[in-house]
Formats: sequence, C-alpha cells, structure tokens
Amino acid sequence: MAQDFSSNTFIPPPMLLLHTLFSCFQLISRGLSTSYVNNKQLNNCQQNDTTTIGFVCNGATSCRSYLTFRSTPTYNNPITIAYLLAADASEIARANNISDVSVLPVDTLVVVPVDCSCSGADSRYQHNASYTIKVQGETYFSVANDTYQALTTCQAMEANNPYDFRNLVVNLRLNVPLWCACPTLNQTAAGFKYLLTYLIRLGDSYSYIADAFSGAGADIQGILNANKLSANDIVFYFTPILVPLTKEPTKENINTVSPPPPPPPPTLPSTPSDQSGGSSSKWVFVGVGIGAAKLNNESVEEQPWSVSSEGLRDAIETLTVYKFEDLQKATGSFAEANRINGSVYQGSFKGDVAAVKVMKGDVSREIDVLRQINHSHIIRLSGFCLHQGITYLVYEYAEKGSLSDWLHNNKMQNQDSYNSLSTGILDWKQRVQIAYDIVDALNYLHNFTNPPYIHKNLKSSNILLDGNIRAKVANFGLARSSDSDNSVPVMTRHVVGTYGYMAPEYIDNGLITPKLDVFAFGVVLLELMSGREAIAAKGSNEEGELLSACINEVLEGENVREKLQRFMDPRLRKEYPMELAYSMAQLAKNCVAHDLNSRPTVADGFMVLSKLLSSSLDWDPSEDFQHSRSFGDGR
Ligand SMILES: *[C@@H]1O[C@H](CO)[C@@H](O)[C@H](O)[C@H]1NC(C)=O
Ligand SMILES: *[C@@H]1O[C@H](CO)[C@@H](O)[C@H](O)[C@H]1NC(C)=O
Ligand SMILES: *[C@@H]1O[C@H](CO)[C@@H](O)[C@H](O)[C@H]1NC(C)=O
Ligand SMILES: *[C@@H]1O[C@H](CO)[C@@H](O)[C@H](O)[C@H]1NC(C)=O
Ligand SMILES: *[C@@H]1O[C@H](CO)[C@@H](O)[C@H](O)[C@H]1NC(C)=O
Ligand SMILES: *[C@@H]1O[C@H](CO)[C@@H](O)[C@H](O)[C@H]1NC(C)=O
Ligand SMILES: *[C@@H]1O[C@H](CO)[C@@H](O)[C@H](O)[C@H]1NC(C)=O
Ligand SMILES: *[C@@H]1O[C@H](CO)[C@@H](O)[C@H](O)[C@H]1NC(C)=O
Ligand SMILES: *[C@@H]1O[C@H](CO)[C@@H](O)[C@H](O)[C@H]1NC(C)=O
Repeated sequence: MAQDFSSNTFIPPPMLLLHTLFSCFQLISRGLSTSYVNNKQLNNCQQNDTTTIGFVCNGATSCRSYLTFRSTPTYNNPITIAYLLAADASEIARANNISDVSVLPVDTLVVVPVDCSCSGADSRYQHNASYTIKVQGETYFSVANDTYQALTTCQAMEANNPYDFRNLVVNLRLNVPLWCACPTLNQTAAGFKYLLTYLIRLGDSYSYIADAFSGAGADIQGILNANKLSANDIVFYFTPILVPLTKEPTKENINTVSPPPPPPPPTLPSTPSDQSGGSSSKWVFVGVGIGAAKLNNESVEEQPWSVSSEGLRDAIETLTVYKFEDLQKATGSFAEANRINGSVYQGSFKGDVAAVKVMKGDVSREIDVLRQINHSHIIRLSGFCLHQGITYLVYEYAEKGSLSDWLHNNKMQNQDSYNSLSTGILDWKQRVQIAYDIVDALNYLHNFTNPPYIHKNLKSSNILLDGNIRAKVANFGLARSSDSDNSVPVMTRHVVGTYGYMAPEYIDNGLITPKLDVFAFGVVLLELMSGREAIAAKGSNEEGELLSACINEVLEGENVREKLQRFMDPRLRKEYPMELAYSMAQLAKNCVAHDLNSRPTVADGFMVLSKLLSSSLDWDPSEDFQHSRSFGDGR
C-alpha cells in the first residue's frame, strides 16, 4: 500500500533536535529509529518537502472518501461542519445518524463523506475546501492546524495558494486542500473500498482505531500497510492517518462513542534505541508537537501564536452566530406583529432592522452560497442561529417587500401581507431600474463569483425592494454552482422550481445551465412590463396561460405597437417611452426563447439593460407622454 511516506526510515535532523529539547513532553521513544514523516507539518511551513503536501495519487483518480472532524463550539452541527469542509450537510447527518441541525457536544468525532480527487502538478489526492481569512494574523499554519484540525498542512496550503504567507489579509479567500486518498489496486484487491482520514490523538493506538472502525472493515494490518508503518512506529497526534474500510462508515458500524483508553504513563527509556516493546508497544502515538514550530525561524516569522483559536472559533467566516435569546429579543419572541410573511419575521438588532427567517431542514446551501456573496443587489445574510433543531437565518431587511406584491396588485389589498407597505405603483423608470438591478445581480452570480452560481429560482416573489425601490435578489435555497466548464451541461432528475419561470429544457430534461436564470429573468421582465403574473390567475379568460408564451404573439405580425400597448401594464397609464418598451419586450422575448441557445447570456442582457436604463433616466415623461398620446391618437 503505497501512500507516500517514502522517507519514513530516518529522522530528519530537526525532529532529532526536537526530541532532545522537548523530552519533557510525553514521549515514548519506542521505535525512534523510524519516524512518521507526516510530523514534518509541524516543522517548517516553508520547507519544500513533497511528503507534506498530501498523499501521492497511486490509486483511482477520484473516489468517495471520508474525513473525520471533531466538533468544536463553532463547528458543531452538520451545516457548519459541511461548509467548513465543503461537504454536504445531509450526507454528514446521514452518516452520523443525526439531523442536519443537531448540535453536537464539543469533541464528538464526526465522519464527513467527501469526494476525493487527484490534482495538481504533484498529483496529490485532495478535497478542496475554501476558507476566508477572518482575523488579521491568521496564517497558513493556524488555518491548517487550528481551524482544520490538521486535515491539511501549511505546506499543502502554500502549494495550493498563490499568496505568500506574509501577504495573508482579512477577507482573502484560500483554497484548503484537505487530505484524503483513494484505494490502491492492492487495497481494492484486499476488499477495501474507502479510505478514511483519521486524526490521531494522544492516547490513540492502532488497535483502538482498528476497533473503532472494525464494523466498517478496518483492521490493524490494513492501517499499518496504508500508512507504511510498522506496529512499533511512533506517530504524533494531530497528523492524519489513513484507515482502509470495506464499507461506508455509519453510526451503525463505527464505535467512536467511548473515549480512547488513557495512554500509559510516560516512561522514558534510558536509551532511545530501547526497542523491547512488550505489551506497551501497542501505545504508539505520542503527543509532542506543541511548540515545535517555534524551533524554526520562518515559522516564527509566521507567528501561528498571534491568533487565539478562541477568537477564530467565535465566529464562522464572515457570518455572525446569533444567540437565540438575542433573536427572541429582536423579534419580540417572534410576535405576530413582527411577522413579515410566512416564517419570516422582522427583528430589530440594536436599532438595525433585519429579517429573520425560520427554517427547518437543510439550509446549508443557502448559507453556503450567501456567505460567499457580497453584492448590493443580492440580499445579504448577516448571520444565523441554531436552536433546538431549527435554523434562524438573519438577513438584511428589504422594507418595501416583494416585487410580486407591487406588481400584482390584488395581493396588495391584503393589508396583512406586508406591514407598512405603501400601495404605490411602480413607474417606468423604477421598473427599468429594478430590471437592471436584477440582471446586475445575475451577471455577478454567473460571471464574477468563483465558482459561478445559478440561482435556479428567480421569480418576482424572490425579488425584494428596499426603501429606495432598488431590487435585492433573495432566496438562494435552490442555487447551485455551475460547472466552470460550460461545455459540460449538468442534468438532474430532481426538477424543483416555480412553474411559470422554469425553462423548458429544465422541465423536460432536467438540464441545468445559466440559461435557466436567463429564462426566468425574461419572465420577470414580462411581469414588470405587463403587471401580469407568470401564470395567468384562475378565473381569467385564458386560465393558466404562461406569460412567457404571450410575448411572441405580441411582437409578431401586424399592429405590433398596438398589441404592445395592450400588453403593457395599464397602471403605467401609457407613461413610458414606446421605443424603449419595445426594446425591453424584444429582450424579454429573446430571454424566454424555447431554445436555450437562442437566449442571450446574462452579460448580454446586462448590456442591453444598461442602455435601456440610461435612456429611460434621460427620458422626460411630460414630453413623451404627449408623444405617445399623439401616436395613439393618430393611428
Ligand atoms: C501489493 O501486494 C503484493 C502482494 O500482496 C505485494 O507483493 C506488493 O508489494 C504490493 N504492492 C504495493 C505497492 O504495496
Ligand atoms: C520545490 O522543489 C521543486 C523541485 O524539487 C521545485 O520545482 C519547486 O519550485 C520548489 N518550490 C518552492 C516553493 O521552492
Ligand atoms: C495545533 O492544534 C492543536 C489542537 O488544537 C493544538 O493543541 C496545538 O497547540 C496546535 N499547535 C500549534 C503549534 O499551535
Ligand atoms: C483543487 O484545487 C486545485 C488548485 O489548488 C486545482 O488544481 C484542482 O483542480 C482542484 N480540484 C478539484 C477537484 O476541483
Ligand atoms: C439513530 O437515531 C435514531 C433516532 O435518534 C435512534 O433511534 C437509533 O437508535 C440511532 N441508530 C444508531 C445506530 O445509533
Ligand atoms: C534565524 O534567522 C536569523 C536571520 O534571519 C539568523 O541570524 C539566525 O541565525 C537564525 N536562527 C536560527 C536558529 O536558524
Ligand atoms: C463588500 O464589498 C464592498 C465593496 O464592494 C466592501 O466595501 C465591503 O466591505 C464588502 N463587505 C463584505 C462583508 O465583504
Ligand atoms: C408570502 O408567502 C407566500 C407563501 O409562502 C408566498 O407565495 C408569497 O410570495 C410571500 N410574499 C412575500 C412578500 O414574500
Ligand atoms: C459571462 O459568462 C458567460 C457564460 O455564462 C460567458 O459566455 C461570458 O463570456 C462571460 N462574460 C464575462 C464578461 O465574463
């Protein structure tokens, strides 16, 4: 089994020095002649040592694999752990037999299923996560050792990020290559299907690890082979070790509940060469390493100690973790008077108004997307709270409610639907501005985020208006990252969305491309122009007709202007520039084209709307009103 620990037959000089200086740490010197090379991660973040950047690819190029993580006060439920490790919260929940939002006691061992693949010039197995530097003073070392619990190394992080360690600043986004591996042919032949990355701790022994995962097929020899270790080798804790498994690790077949047996008392043998293992030879893991990096000049420059791990763990990335009591206080204990709509409440946090959405189930998608996004026309998630299995998301507040409420007047008569909502009518300039804001947000999602996102559920009820009637795109629960390689379309069998806004190729074939959002945007444009709903309401003469299906009829054949005027929202009272309305209608028609290849990209739409907006803002309603009047009169 050839995971690469190729130089594990000698002790590198720095480690010798370390052993000498730090002999006061618990140290069992049995097997000192062989050392676990992975300990180098503690040694020197700048050293160019190929063994510290990951497991060499010597099996399948990609596979399912498993990481382990011990819950911390901040990362203590499947959602937060999933987004730290770029995993899937519901898969974590399933593997550990807990609900998505269960809060785990600190230090619970959590099994995290992830995809592992071979990448980089050096061909290492890794699972990419990403981390945004939160506090000045965080280093590759502190992120690897403290935040990621040594699931990666500072060397692997340096190899995967273009930034010099001296140039790490707050808000910088780092690639975090987590160590994983795929089975070799030999392991496959021996019946192993998965490799689990286990984080050793003081007191662990091979037999403890083998026992813990024996239900999933682990055995001592398999572990030793996978890590090129012999039974007497010393390894240091907080280093990853691979555990080959024949089955998926689940709560039923793993036993991590009982704490590891206590380590034997540290007995320092008289000579390091004393190899007479006896029964204590099964306790092979020892705890040194704390302060090891201090021995090294460059690491001292990096100062991993300047950040308290407390500070790091107080907050997750850029999100605030709210206390439930604070949410109760802000919303008057979720008082009916503060209910905005459905499960969304208005809350006041020290004078700042926010919207609090109460959610059950897996909300990791929404959190994960929104925490990475910073755009003035995308609703901002400021934080969240987990309490008794329920997630509370705290958003920026959009005081004027949803676009659909403004456009589809019938709802406006229901005064309960939105408190303090003025029942105004949007004029032409406001509507073009809103369209521009939406396409601006989509353009950002499609072209300027990494990875790009597809919203997948754009509709007028997901577009909120702030106090200045500027749009904010909301509800990212269905959003997904699109493949950066656009030539590979993604298919799904699980078609979800809102009828009336869903593109035909998605309904028919589950095809997911950015053109889904273009189609939905076209429908929203048509709503803005006509004031009609995406699907004609029941009781109208053309029951159930799709708005997207109307526009061709309007723009084709004779009397286009007349038909367009009839299509336009009567509440605009013809106060719009006809030429611009026509251009917008053309854009909308192209956006809702049946064939996705005929639809413009969002970037194209953005350019058209930029022009429409600047022309609309220049337009003087009083003049044009006369003009369109005379046009109408003289037909
Ligand atoms: C694979 O297994 C065979 C037989 O068990 C052994 O001889 C060989 O050295 C192994 N190869 C590796 C790369 O571990
Ligand atoms: C590490 O060593 C390899 C060759 O051994 C060299 O190509 C690479 O540039 C080195 N990287 C750094 C950061 O020194
Ligand atoms: C690495 O992390 C472990 C566990 O949190 C901690 O005990 C140790 O002090 C850290 N090492 C350094 C050098 O900060
Ligand atoms: C992981 O990140 C590295 C860049 O550091 C990249 O080369 C590699 O393709 C990524 N792997 C996957 C599976 O995205
Ligand atoms: C999984 O969780 C359910 C409900 O909490 C419990 O009844 C069941 O015993 C658990 N299974 C295992 C293997 O822990
Ligand atoms: C640390 O670096 C400084 C200069 O950068 C050098 O003078 C000193 O000898 C180094 N110390 C060790 C222990 O290498
Ligand atoms: C968002 O971006 C703006 C500049 O575009 C910046 O001023 C602001 O600090 C950013 N906010 C966050 C939370 O990153
Ligand atoms: C209120 O909730 C209903 C159903 O949950 C939804 O259809 C409607 O669009 C929502 N209105 C607003 C303003 O969010
Ligand atoms: C935006 O993304 C589309 C694909 O969705 C691409 O065709 C276009 O070139 C991109 N434009 C920019 C400015 O990045």
